[in-house]
Amino acid sequence: MRVLGIESSCDETGVAIYDTETGLRAHAVHTQIDLHAEYGGVVPELASRDHIRRLVPLIRKVLREAGCELAGIDAVAYTAGPGLAGALLVGASVAEALAAARSLPALPIHHLEGHLLSPMLSADPPRFPFVALLVSGGHTQLMRVGGVGDYQLLGESLDDAAGEAFDKTAKLMGLGYPGGPKLSQLAESGKPGRFKLPRPMLNSGDLSFSFSGLKTAVLTLMTERTLSETDRSDLAADFQAAVVDVLVAKSIAAVAKCGLDQFVVAGGVGANRHLRDQLNAAGTRGGFSVFYPEFELCTDNGAMIAFAGALRLQSGKVTPGSGAFAVSPRWPLASLS
Ligand code: KG4
Ligand code: ZN
Repeated sequence: MRVLGIESSCDETGVAIYDTETGLRAHAVHTQIDLHAEYGGVVPELASRDHIRRLVPLIRKVLREAGCELAGIDAVAYTAGPGLAGALLVGASVAEALAAARSLPALPIHHLEGHLLSPMLSADPPRFPFVALLVSGGHTQLMRVGGVGDYQLLGESLDDAAGEAFDKTAKLMGLGYPGGPKLSQLAESGKPGRFKLPRPMLNSGDLSFSFSGLKTAVLTLMTERTLSETDRSDLAADFQAAVVDVLVAKSIAAVAKCGLDQFVVAGGVGANRHLRDQLNAAGTRGGFSVFYPEFELCTDNGAMIAFAGALRLQSGKVTPGSGAFAVSPRWPLASLS
């Protein structure tokens, strides 16, 4: 069975074909970074218009690369939420139209379910059940994953997501958009520990996070003094260490609480090298294995959507598309079944 996957929830247009027999056949992503860079963040209307321009050529390219005709596709999966309403509607309308034209099932997929399952596409995949840390631009959540559609929320951010904190702090420091990769790159040349940034909610005794205070702490430091280049790198390293320390401590607590020995990291911040190093070390110490998606599948892509669609088809857990291009910009993952 071959599933065409379409992702358009934010600033990446992603398309892929996943075959349940032979695996990922082809995938392509068009990023809108250049389009939004001059505005310092994603402009929703520009995002929607660009998805319209890119999606059909990208579908053609992926079909070509997979050596496949539209007639060889058995289902069309698309991101139905959460995300930007206009951007989601582009993917939803193309997917629903393709499915209707070819009498195929259209599979509306939760974007975070895509991220959550994406490590299962790698050469060394985890098996259910596992604990997952979802760290993206919009979400920071710890989940217990029992199987497809079995997602128990263990804790989440009470304010900014980890990626959002990276992006906002990078903007404050004049690093531009997208902030996460730029800030972590600057942190590479810095030494953490000089600025003593707080570790918010580290000892709160639960699995909640709070990251909005960190950018305020950075802002306060920046208004108090003029930072040299070395100061800026050290501050970036301190900020990164503060976020990572909290993410790692709560991840260890979540693994212990669930009594499981597999831990999955998904979402854009999962590309962060320092986070990976610290989680790997925690896994070695604590006797649990840590799984990541392939590097190129950490950020938004169509492969994770095609894959989630295929798993849902295989397990019979399919919520049919409405055919009416309905999307859910806000949609709690734990409400899935
Ligand atoms: O999962 P994703 O591509 O999109 C959402 O669903 O949000 O995640 C994007 C987020 C952005 O906030 C970006 O700054 C962050 O992931 N990010 C990183 C790194 N690469 C991407 N944050 C820290 N370090 C990185 N290397
Ligand atoms: Zn995402």
